[in-house]
Amino acid sequence: MRANDRIQEVETWLDRLYIAADGASLRVEDRRKAAEVTAILEEIERAVKRFSRRRSLVLVDAAAGKSYVGLLAAQLVFGPLGLDARVLVLEKNQRLVALSRTAAELLETRTPVECLAADVSDPSCWPEEPDIVVALHACGPASDVIIERAIACRARLLLLVPCCTSDAVAAVRLAKEEAVRLAIPDQAPVRRRFIQAMVDAERTRRLEAAGYVTEVVEFVGATVTPHNLLWRARRGK
Ligand SMILES: C[S@@+](CC[C@H](N)C(=O)[O-])C[C@H]1O[C@@H](n2cnc3c(N)ncnc32)[C@H](O)[C@@H]1O
Repeated sequence: MRANDRIQEVETWLDRLYIAADGASLRVEDRRKAAEVTAILEEIERAVKRFSRRRSLVLVDAAAGKSYVGLLAAQLVFGPLGLDARVLVLEKNQRLVALSRTAAELLETRTPVECLAADVSDPSCWPEEPDIVVALHACGPASDVIIERAIACRARLLLLVPCCTSDAVAAVRLAKEEAVRLAIPDQAPVRRRFIQAMVDAERTRRLEAAGYVTEVVEFVGATVTPHNLLWRARRGK
């Protein structure tokens, strides 16, 4: 499918599942979200085409918000490819989980989707050896918890797009100490970039140390979102 057709299809489904139901239409930010979701769905589709499958495929959409990725992966990837798959959505905000459940009822796919109100730090809500863990714009420390849980449950592939970085991120505290030690200038943009680079490096090293072959790529342009880095981490043997 051509890129424009795919994005059009994602916009149509976002509209149908979340927006038309409210009597509104797509806004500029919804179209940006559609571009992000389209790029992640392409990552998922490429990955599942390469997987050898011995059993039903499991995708976890972690810190899912309204579950755009999980629901549209079921509708636009697993359904059309005829895959035996299921989707598990993890989101701590009960209101968003309720919205996801309502949207999931509008899907036209046989792929089962389960929307759980859960904190991603709760090990009991994670399946064993999920094929794909995807987290689009997991904010602050949620990205680190998702890395930790994906490693612990032996996910085959992690597709992680971190979002904002705050003092709640453990690596920020270490990066700030390192900035002082290295006499990184105080000017905010300089210091912020140094700290972000340290956080990004720590996450990459942590995945590699756990045996994940890790790539970091710009999954969409920076004009779509400033948080445009995707960690594509594949478990080694
Ligand atoms: C920036 S939103 C992104 C949502 C969605 N993935 C998207 O791209 O539209 C981050 C979401 O992560 C959820 N979240 C943050 N920390 C979480 C945690 N520890 N467990 C579960 N969900 C969490 C928030 O409630 C929020 O819905």
